[in-house]
Amino acid sequence: PRTIYLTRHGESTLNQDLRIGGDSSLSANGKLYGEALAQYMENESIPDLIVWTSQMQRTIQTAAKINAPKEQWKALNEINAGICEGLTYMEIAERFPDELAARDQSKFYYRYPGGESYQDLVARLEPVIMELERAENVLVVCHQAVARCILGYFLNKDADDLPYTKVPLHTVIKLTPMAYGCLMECIPLHI
Ligand code: F6P
Repeated sequence: PRTIYLTRHGESTLNQDLRIGGDSSLSANGKLYGEALAQYMENESIPDLIVWTSQMQRTIQTAAKINAPKEQWKALNEINAGICEGLTYMEIAERFPDELAARDQSKFYYRYPGGESYQDLVARLEPVIMELERAENVLVVCHQAVARCILGYFLNKDADDLPYTKVPLHTVIKLTPMAYGCLMECIPLHI
């Protein structure tokens, strides 16, 4: 059976500062993850592997060392947090307490002013998911919210749980589609 590998990008400089969104580069740890990921994929020796990234620097940099053809998808870019881009959750709480409360109420449907909701993201990801259904072995290097939506689709998560799915950094998720549902395995890589 074919396998879908899914991972977030390595730690970025904005992740280090606990800031959301943006288009920052990898931190030193993030670069080490890029190397560990390339080594891991090499060891897996997957026939005809292709690597999909978003168009953001942190995913492109994370995939750079992997020896396989790569494709960039704008549709894989991280959720657009609109007026909250570049802020920490603390700063959002201070500057936009009502927004934070609204998001807590209904995280899947909440849309950042000037940005997107998880529901928007699911719609944006539809063409990616259709291609994923047809593709052979793929590694998708993406982002926290995007990875949650992709997992949500393959694991049939409902709208309440999907935005809270745990998708840690520096971990490879291996999905093997079966007749009913999907087998999921998480492999944290040590850097
Ligand atoms: O903090 C990293 C990040 O990918 C942000 O860019 C994004 O806004 C966030 O995670 C999504 O997670 P949550 O929906 O839990 O805020």
